[in-house]
Amino acid sequence: MSVSNVQGEIVQVLVSGSTGLIGRALVPALEAAGHRVTRLVRPPLAPGEDSLLWNPPAIGPESDALQEFDAVIHLAGESVAQRWTENQKARIRSSRVTGTALLSHALAAAQIPPRALIVASAVGYYGDRGAELLSEDSPPGRGFLAEICRDWEAATEPAASNGLRVVNLRFGLVLSRQGGALARMLPPFRMGLGGPVAGGHHYISWITLDDLVGSILFVLAQNSLRGPVNAVAPNPVTNAEFTRALAKVLRRPAVLPLPASAVRLMFGEMGQELLLSSQRVEPARLIAAGFHFGFPDLEPALRHALQKS
Ligand SMILES: NC(=O)c1ccc[n+]([C@@H]2O[C@H](COP(=O)([O-])OP(=O)(O)OC[C@H]3O[C@@H](n4cnc5c(N)ncnc54)[C@H](OP(=O)(O)O)[C@@H]3O)[C@@H](O)[C@H]2O)c1
Repeated sequence: MSVSNVQGEIVQVLVSGSTGLIGRALVPALEAAGHRVTRLVRPPLAPGEDSLLWNPPAIGPESDALQEFDAVIHLAGESVAQRWTENQKARIRSSRVTGTALLSHALAAAQIPPRALIVASAVGYYGDRGAELLSEDSPPGRGFLAEICRDWEAATEPAASNGLRVVNLRFGLVLSRQGGALARMLPPFRMGLGGPVAGGHHYISWITLDDLVGSILFVLAQNSLRGPVNAVAPNPVTNAEFTRALAKVLRRPAVLPLPASAVRLMFGEMGQELLLSSQRVEPARLIAAGFHFGFPDLEPALRHALQKS
C-alpha cells in the first residue's frame, strides 16, 4: 500500500477496461491529478511494469498483487452495442457479473485490501420507467440489462464484506465524439437522416465524458460515498428533445421519424432495451455530496462533446 489515503491525496490506482472509451479518458485524468495508475489487462497483452494480468471470466487477478493499491476502478465489460445473440448475451453478462465477482473475491482475499472499489454500472439498472423520476433509492427494473446491472452490483459484495468502500457508479449515456452512442448517431444526423425515435417520448439520461471522468475522480476522493451513485447530468431529456438539440448543434434537419417497429426489426432486443427504454434519472447522491457538473444542460454539453461553437 502506498503512503497516501483516498481523501484528496496521491493514490495508487488499478484500472480495468483502460482501453475503452471511458478508460482512455480516465487514465490520463488520474495521472494529471498526480495519481499512479496500473492497468488491469487481458491477454494477449503481457503484464508489464505498469500493468497486471487477468483473463475474465476465467482467471482473476492475484490477491497478493492487489495489496499494492489504494483503489481499484473497474470498467471492463463486453460491449452491449451489438446484436444480442444468445452467445453475445452470455458474454455481455459473464464479462460483467463473473468478471466483477472474480475481482471482488480476489480483493476479499487480500490481506491488506485497497480501500476503495469503484465499479461501472448503468442506468439500465432501472429498466423501462417512462417519466418516473429515478434516484439511487428507486428499485431495479426488469429486462436483460436491468438484471445484469443488479447482479453486476451484487457481485461486489465480497469486497464490501472485506471492508472496502464499494461505489457502484450507474453511468448514463456518455456523450463523446470519440465513441459510444453519440458517435454512432453522428453519420445519419450529419446526412440529415436523423429524427425522433418511437415518437420521442422516452427519457435519456446522459453525461459528458468529461463530467463522467470528473465524477469518478470525485467519488475516489469522497470517503463518505458508497453504494449506488448515479453518474448522469441533472437534466435528463426526452428523445425528441435530444434529437432537436443534436440537430441544432449540427445545423442539420432531423425530422425523419424512426418508428419503434423499425428499431425492433433492425436491432432486435438490443434496440428495445438500449434505444426505446425510458430512464429519467437524477444524480441525487453526487449533488448531495457537492459535485459540480461542468455541463448540466444538453445543448452546451453536445457543443462541448462535438467541439461545435
Ligand atoms: N459508454 C457509455 O455510454 C456507458 C453507459 C453506461 C455504462 N457503461 C459501462 O461502463 C463501462 C466502460 O464503458 P466504455 O464505454 O468505456 O466501454 P468500452 O469502450 O466498450 O470498453 C470496455 C472495455 O472493457 C474491456 N472488455 C471488452 N470486452 C471484454 C470482455 N469480454 N471481458 C472483459 N473485459 C472486456 C476492454 O478493455 P481491456 O481490453 O483493456 O480489458 C474494453 O476496452 C462498461 O462496462 C459499460 O457497460 C458505459
